[in-house]
Amino acid sequence: MIAIYPGSFDPITLGHLDVIQRGCKLFERVVVAVLRNPNKMPMFTVQERLDQIRISTQHLPNIELDSFDGLTVNYAQIRQAVVIIRGLRVLSDFEKELQMAHTNKTLSDKIETVFLATSTEYGFLSSSVVKEIARFGGSVDHLVPKHVAKDIYNKCYAKTHPESAPTSTNPALKMNCPNVELEA
Ligand code: PNS
Repeated sequence: MIAIYPGSFDPITLGHLDVIQRGCKLFERVVVAVLRNPNKMPMFTVQERLDQIRISTQHLPNIELDSFDGLTVNYAQIRQAVVIIRGLRVLSDFEKELQMAHTNKTLSDKIETVFLATSTEYGFLSSSVVKEIARFGGSVDHLVPKHVAKDIYNKCYAKTHPESAPTSTNPALKMNCPNVELEA
């Protein structure tokens, strides 16, 4: 059974990774699909996000990475997937996610949404939280894979303040991360 895990992944967090790993145990194949959304101003390009996910998931044999645009259910059908995986963190997620699952059901009744409850330690975690912390100069080392933290620091700090690039002993710097949309 093929499942897709669609999302923005801007950037992938340890919470996403947790959902991916658990999805890979449940399904024969998991396609992690990055939405190409021209209306958003992301921190990372689609290619950068795919590279980040690829490095983070090298240990998983039954994973595939892709990007898509348009409706998720159409993409799922193209990939012959019968399941859409979504992670659920807190109650506020539930409303939005249930609405999305119901909408998708009206578009295709062949595709089921399966919710995976996020592990408790990642209940607060989102890409937006990561970007917000980074924007205000905090450390995100504990929230994203190591190489992604490095990408974030490079993107946010190194270009404007190369002399102040964070280190493990001094991760919290007061740098701004301009032109980054904090939504999602
Ligand atoms: O990581 P995100 O931003 O919460 O992912 C949201 C995503 C990509 C799953 C959702 O926006 C989506 O499915 N977009 C594609 C358009 C679509 O299918 N819309 C109908 C469902 S509301």
